[in-house]
Amino acid sequence: MNNKQRILQQGPLMPGLEARLAEAYDLHRLDTQADPETFLAEHGDGFVGLVTSAAVGADAALIDALPALKVISSFGVGLDKLDLDAAARRGIAVGNTPEVLNDCVADLAIALMLDVARRTAAADRFVRRGEWLEHRFPLGRRVSGAKLGIVGLGRIGRTIARRAGGFEMDIRYHSRRPVADVPWQHEPSLLALAGWADYLIVITAGGAGTHHLIDAEVLDALGPDGFIVNVSRGSVIDEAALVKALVDKRIAGAGLDVFDREPHVPGELMHLDNVVLLPHIASATRETRQAMADLTFDNLQAFFRDGQVLTFAG
Ligand code: DGY
Repeated sequence: MNNKQRILQQGPLMPGLEARLAEAYDLHRLDTQADPETFLAEHGDGFVGLVTSAAVGADAALIDALPALKVISSFGVGLDKLDLDAAARRGIAVGNTPEVLNDCVADLAIALMLDVARRTAAADRFVRRGEWLEHRFPLGRRVSGAKLGIVGLGRIGRTIARRAGGFEMDIRYHSRRPVADVPWQHEPSLLALAGWADYLIVITAGGAGTHHLIDAEVLDALGPDGFIVNVSRGSVIDEAALVKALVDKRIAGAGLDVFDREPHVPGELMHLDNVVLLPHIASATRETRQAMADLTFDNLQAFFRDGQVLTFAG
């Protein structure tokens, strides 16, 4: 008879985390493609914990199909794919992995800003194609001292702003409410922020409240000399409007770590030289991913030991 707590793992996790979970719990893995109903008919219910990730989440149908569920531990900070209302209705505790990824996500936002401005990825392609022998690489744009608008001044937004301070950038931000005790100017109008900024970094939470927050009008306010960087969620930008603005050169360029329907990237973007495309890697360093895995495990352990997760998300 197995006395370990029954835990359902939804989708793939880092192998080390999966091994720790399998050692500590009675772990069953539900693949992303599998039908939950068939899976649960075979494996029975009685799952008290669910481990998932920001990329996979958990919808109301799955949460409701697990009558014994008490805790959800999610690998990642984003909660846009996790139905927090469905969990709250049943008093299910939800933990995620904030803070530990702030530095690496902020680092990548700065890297993307530098890359779109100085065109390092394009310059690398230029050298590899042997074009340096024929002509000079086109001039880039200056980052130091330029105007940076940050959309969303949460934990990661503030970390980005501190880094940008090192580049002596003039920094303003847009968020629903002004953030207390920060040295940067709050801009209540997103359009005004975009109109002012040379660079706009988007790092607000995903979900219904921010869906297509950046639309054609905001992109036009940013203008033909403005660059946009997105390290939040693809859904925050109207992707069709962004593609059109880039193709028509109504903005100068974009650095994108996230897309609307990952891993699908709009075909038009593949042929543009004024974009940098990354496969959602903002938190993807060995150190940060290990810290996220540890926190995912510790949240579950804390819940079963003390009745609460360490990082309460809902
Ligand atoms: C997060 O933690 O939310 C990252 O974006 C990975 O999905």
